Amino acid sequence: MKKLFQYILLTALVFAYACGGGEEKKDDASTKQEKIAKLFGITVFELENGIGPIKEKITLGPLDNAKAAEGKMIFEVKCSQCHKLDERYTGPAVRNITKKRTPEYILNNILNPEEMANKHPEAKKLVAIHATKMTFQNVTKEDALKILEYFRSEDQ
Ligand code: HEC
Repeated sequence: MKKLFQYILLTALVFAYACGGGEEKKDDASTKQEKIAKLFGITVFELENGIGPIKEKITLGPLDNAKAAEGKMIFEVKCSQCHKLDERYTGPAVRNITKKRTPEYILNNILNPEEMANKHPEAKKLVAIHATKMTFQNVTKEDALKILEYFRSEDQ
C-alpha cells in the first residue's frame, strides 16, 4: 500500500514537472523574440509585422479577384523592374511571400521600405544578400492592399 502511494506521488511529481517544463519552453520562445526585438530597438509586434504605418493586425477577407488583378497591374508598373515572382532579381523573388511574412509585414515593407531596410533584422538580412535597398514607390495604402491581394492570389 505504501509503495502504491509512493508510486502515485512520484507520477504526480513527474507530471507536474513535465507540464511546467512545457510552459517554460513557450516562455523561452517569447523571451527570444523579446531579446531580438530589444537588440534591434524595435517592438515584438514590429519584429513580426514590420515597421511602418500598419500598427495593428488587420483582418483579410476572402480573396478578391478584381482587386488582385488591379494589384498585378500596379506590381508590373512599380515593382517588376526589381522583383520577379520566381527568380531573384534586384530584389528577392516574391512568390510565397504571404506564407513567409504576415500581411502587415508585407504592407509595411511596401509602404515604409527605407526604415524597414535600416532597422528590421529580416529586411537588413535581405539588404546584405541583395546589396541594394528597396526604395518607396509612391504607393498608397489602398494600392499596397491591392498588391497584397495579387500576392495572395499567386500563393494559393
Ligand atoms: C529599386 C528596386 C526595387 C523596387 C522598385 C521594389 N523593390 Fe521590393 N525589394 C527590393 C530589395 C532590394 C529588397 C530587399 C532589401 C530591402 O528590403 O530593402 C526588397 C524587398 C521587398 C519585400 C520583402 C521581401 C521579403 O522576403 O521579406 C517585399 C514584400 C517587396 N520588396 C515588395 C515590393 C513591391 C510590392 C514593390 C512595388 C511597389 C517593390 N517591392 C519595389 C527592391 C525593390
